[in-house]
Formats: sequence, C-alpha cells, structure tokens
Amino acid sequence: NMTTIPKDKNFDSSLILLRDGYEFIQKKRENLGIDIFSTRLMLKETICMSGKEAAEVFYDTEKFQRKGATPKRVQKTLFGQKGVQTLDNSAHRQRKEMFMSLMKPDSLQQFLEIKKGYWETYISKWEKEEQIILFNEVQELLCRAVCSWSGVPLREEEVQQRAKDLGAMVDAFGAIGPRHWRGKQARKRAEKWIGNLIKEIRNGKIHVEKGTAAHSIAFHRELDGKLLDTKVAAVELINVLRPTVAIATYIIFTGLALHQNPQYKKEIQTGKDNLTEILVQEVRRFYPFTPMVGAIVRKEFEWKGYMFKRGRLVLLDIYGMLHDPELWEDPHEFHPERFINWDGNPFTLIPQGGGEHLHGHRCAGEWLTIESMKQAVDFLINRITYEVPDQDLSFSLSRMPTLPRSGFIMGNIKSQQ
Ligand code: HEM
Repeated sequence: NMTTIPKDKNFDSSLILLRDGYEFIQKKRENLGIDIFSTRLMLKETICMSGKEAAEVFYDTEKFQRKGATPKRVQKTLFGQKGVQTLDNSAHRQRKEMFMSLMKPDSLQQFLEIKKGYWETYISKWEKEEQIILFNEVQELLCRAVCSWSGVPLREEEVQQRAKDLGAMVDAFGAIGPRHWRGKQARKRAEKWIGNLIKEIRNGKIHVEKGTAAHSIAFHRELDGKLLDTKVAAVELINVLRPTVAIATYIIFTGLALHQNPQYKKEIQTGKDNLTEILVQEVRRFYPFTPMVGAIVRKEFEWKGYMFKRGRLVLLDIYGMLHDPELWEDPHEFHPERFINWDGNPFTLIPQGGGEHLHGHRCAGEWLTIESMKQAVDFLINRITYEVPDQDLSFSLSRMPTLPRSGFIMGNIKSQQ
C-alpha cells in the first residue's frame, strides 16, 4: 500500500530555508510531526528526509543519481561544472579513483609535514603581533600548504587573493546577493588561474612531480582514453584546493570547542588515549558546516510505503541528522566521550557525506580533514599558549555556511618550548 509523501502546505519554502538555514528540515519535520515531507524549493518539488535509514537509501546508487542534482547557483560558486560531484556509474568511479589515489597514507603524511612547517612559520609571525584573527590566518596557511602539496605554484604576492577566493566560493553556497556574487567572481578567477596552469603543465612549460594532484589531474584519462577538458581539469584541481582551505572552518570550531570546554586541554596534555581523535569527531558532529546534500531519483521506487517518483530531487538533512536525538544522546551537548565505543556506522556520523568513499560520493578528503584537525589540536594545545580576548564568538544557524562572528581572535601568542 503506497502512500504519497506528505506535502508541506507552503507554496514555496525557499525563503523559509534562507531564514531557518541549518535547522530548516528539522524544524519542518517537528512542525509537521513526520520524518519525511515534500516541499517546493525554488519552485521545484523537493523531498526532504532524515535519519539513518533515510541515509542508507540516499546512498544507494541504484536508486539515486547525482546528474542534475546541483542547482546552477551552486555550480557557479561552490562546485563548478562537470566535476566528480555530478558524475554517476563508471564515469564517477574513474574520476573518484583518481581523487582517492591522492589520499594514500604516504601522501597524507607528506601533506601533514608540509603543513607542520607552515604552522611553525605562522606561529613565529603571530608571536610578533598583538592579536590575530585565526580564521584568516589559517585560511592562508592551508592555502600555502595545499598548493605546495598539490604542485600548484603560488607567488608570495598572490597568496592573500588566492586564499580569499578559495574561501569565497565556500562562503557563497547558501547565499543570495553580494555574497553569492563574490563567490562567482572568485570561481571565475580561480578557474582562469588553474586552467592556465593545467595548460602549462600539459605543454611542458611547468614541471610538476608525479603523484601530486596537479600532475594526476592534468594527465588523468577519462574512460574514453581522453584527457579532461581544460576547464573540467581546473574544476577538479580546485576540488582539492578549495575544500582544503575550508578546513579553516573546522579548525576555528575546534579552537572554540577547546575554549568552551577547557577540561579537554588538560586531559589531552596528560596524554589521554585517543582523546584528540574523539574530540575531532565531536567537533565534526556538533558544529554546523554541510547543511544537506541532494540527489535525484534514478528510477521510481518504494521505500517505507512511500513512492519516490523518477527525476525527483531529494535532500538528506545532514545537520539535522548530526543533532537527531534518535541517533545521539543529548545531541546539543558537546560530549566527545560519546565516540569512545562508537560503532563507526557509515550512515550516522556524516558531516562529509555517508556511505562509501570509492563507489559513492562520500567526501574524498575526509581523512585529510580529520588529520588536519588533529594536527591543529596539537598546535593549539601543546605548541603555543594564547589568550582569547572578549569577542563575539556566537554563530548564526541561519547563515550557511556559518562561523563564530569574530573569526576567533587570539592574543599574546607564545610558542611553548
Ligand atoms: C564531497 C564535505 C573537505 C574533496 C563532499 C561532500 C560533503 C563534503 C558533504 C558530499 C557528500 C555527498 O555528496 O554525499 C566536506 C567538508 C570538508 C571537506 C565539510 C571540510 C572542510 C574536503 C577536502 C577535500 C574534499 C579536504 C580534498 C582534498 C571532496 C571531493 C568530493 C567531496 C572531491 C566529491 C566526492 C564525490 O562526488 O564522489 N565533501 N569536505 N573535501 N569532497 Fe569534501
């Protein structure tokens, strides 16, 4: 007995999404008293769902495809066009293998080594300053590190602009107006920059080492044996640079977590096993970053008695799931210990997508992100001392993406010998 998915009564919910931001799906679920509902977003009929079982179907590639799932405004800012996010089947697999090949343990270790050097350089600089805004500093630091690791040449005088542009593409994803426009301009500049680099690598003007992202992407072959279109290659190399700079957001939230829960500093300093790892997992669960992910129904199917029509856009509520009382005890408490005996279910802790990395769309950079956050914890706790002056550390859940308003100001920074 199939039922239709309950419909939200609003004619269109786009403005409510802008107002409620991260809490959009959860609030509607609570108001309607149901787990799954259908609403109109930008006039398009859209199914919204949440929960572990919902995540399991959402990541079933027999049922869902990504082609056609990304709105134009997100392509023009966050993602670019024709990147791995939009691919399905063997074309996706071919491209995703290339990304995953960059994430082997040796390669990650090399990235952490490079980044460690930049942390040390930046700390020496910070020691000479009265105060710094951690977000801006870490964006730059990550930009230098990821360019160096990826084989992307970066001149000193362009560091600020490139870091800002890579940040602006992410900052634009839930925006309308000036913030969206800035993201669009940023993407145009970045695609031109990286597009030229791809050409120069291919014609031998610039030599990059084998195994780097720039080399792998420039010489990656599609299933038909052809090189990627220059523009698509640029989109894919930016798919490594941009999200790595975005780890700055999680590092700021890590700083905030340590500031607001100072007991963990001491426990980590006294070498409590695994505490850094579970603290980082809790930061990824607790603080908002990805609000939701979208996919298109590939062919009609039934789930829990509901009919999913072919071609329908479906959103999975990431933020809501990370704060779902069915999945997490006291979800609004910051409690890293919840991960001590965690079962590692691939459909519950999904701040960077769920399911599987190689066959599915789960984030290619998840391990890199976790290791980078752990390294940040080490620097913030063991390598420096600092003060957190009075400032506005609050963050809005209606802004997507969000960040503590002050950007996390630190003062009187000294390295610990
Ligand atoms: C995909 C989040 C860092 C590369 C994704 C997805 C999310 C996500 C939600 C989509 C999952 C889905 O569609 O089901 C994040 C967050 C990060 C982060 C919150 C923290 C800053 C990174 C890093 C890299 C990266 C550091 C690369 C160095 C990718 C790629 C995809 C992806 C290539 C597309 C995968 C595919 O479509 O198969 N990420 N990510 N991400 N991420 Fe990340």
